[in-house]
Amino acid sequence: MSEHFDVHGGARLVGEVEVVGAKNSVLKLMAAALLAEGTTTITNCPQILDVPLMADVLRSVGCEVELDGDVTRITTPSQLSHRADSPAMGKLRASVCVLGPLVGRLRQAVVALPGGDAIGSRPLDMHQNGLRKLGATSSIEHGCVVAEADNLRGSQIWLDFPSVGATENILMASVLAEGTTVIDNAAREPEIIDVCTMLTEMGAKIEGAGTSTLTVEGVERLHPTEHRVIGDRIVGATWAFAAAMTRGDITVTGVDPHHLDLVLEKLRLAGADVTTYDGKGFRVVQDVRPQAVDFVTLPYPGFATDLQPFAVALSSVSEGTSMITENVYEARFRFIEEMVRLGADARTDGHHAVVRGVDKLSSAPVWASDIRAGAGLVLAGLCAEGVTEVWDVFHIDRGYPYFVENLNRLGARIERVTTDPERAITEEQS
Ligand code: UD1
Repeated sequence: MSEHFDVHGGARLVGEVEVVGAKNSVLKLMAAALLAEGTTTITNCPQILDVPLMADVLRSVGCEVELDGDVTRITTPSQLSHRADSPAMGKLRASVCVLGPLVGRLRQAVVALPGGDAIGSRPLDMHQNGLRKLGATSSIEHGCVVAEADNLRGSQIWLDFPSVGATENILMASVLAEGTTVIDNAAREPEIIDVCTMLTEMGAKIEGAGTSTLTVEGVERLHPTEHRVIGDRIVGATWAFAAAMTRGDITVTGVDPHHLDLVLEKLRLAGADVTTYDGKGFRVVQDVRPQAVDFVTLPYPGFATDLQPFAVALSSVSEGTSMITENVYEARFRFIEEMVRLGADARTDGHHAVVRGVDKLSSAPVWASDIRAGAGLVLAGLCAEGVTEVWDVFHIDRGYPYFVENLNRLGARIERVTTDPERAITEEQS
């Protein structure tokens, strides 16, 4: 069966929408549960495809995982397997986050190279170098990262770039290393703080969460905990852009607006009226056509690369010309080819894109290449004349819980259409 969305253009989105736990947090928290024998409970989990996929990864190394609505319970046995090379590994990027916990706990790991969004080159050199600094050997063999250590010893580690995944893997290995580890140029994303918070609840000793220097004092063992995932700032921002693009009025709850300070400031510059509710959410009202603004993607607290498709989509219907600079994942500009199908006036030159706003987009069949590009195409379809077909929507399902339902509740007209490919071929032939 193949699925696409029919997105009817022209709706103004109005209403309230609740954001649940962050995809890029929950998957790492699930991996962190490997560090402690017993049952770890994670609440406010989003009901997205990547959560059961990550559950399969954990089961493949010996855990029992129960998914119960927005609660995930992971029971980690005393004897874990060090081999995480099941087919589930290749289906998502975050699967690589079992590497750090397995090395921390077992001093050895064989972890299949991860899958996930095709957004550009995604090497693991910083993950491996970090583990080497802690005293492990690390190589790539037969499609797997193989790491082994007689003992893990705290060390000073400088990252070339504040990589989210490398910070998390090194952190999760170092909490059970001997002595002190200092990770410099660490990533500062709110999801890293969330992982640090849960590890601390489990008994880890970490200082500097949310800063560029993380200091970890290794402990002998961790214990299970119950932890609530932080709200998904990327999903929250998606709704903020949806309000701005459809000249709508959307109140978003369940996400800390401070995690979106820069994003909301950009929308203010575009002409939106933004109100924030401390720690709880925000409201974006856009009454006039958005004005063009420039965007530059950078690690947090910069403008997130995951939001770049929304910046392009907003710019394509704004008044004026925007320059968008992508500094993290070069292949993300593939999204622009799909926007051009919808009538956007956009072109790229290296890691810059120039987008001249047009009065109207027009519907066309388009293809999602990753989670955020897919959601960006849906928002563009809402601003296009006619019915836009967005294909490969499984990408969107990996990151957005109840996306179609939430959009329709806000006043959009969007339908999920399931096609039997064999029937489609037969009809074409007849
Ligand atoms: C995470 C997010 C992803 C987001 C990205 C950047 C998850 C599951 N995914 O991905 O949605 O777009 O952060 O905010 O949390 N790099 C190296 N060597 C390494 C590691 C990374 O060169 O060893 C490079 C990457 O190619 C990329 C940059 O560093 O150019 C950032 O990558 P990183 O922060 O590691 O992204 P992920 O953790 O994979």
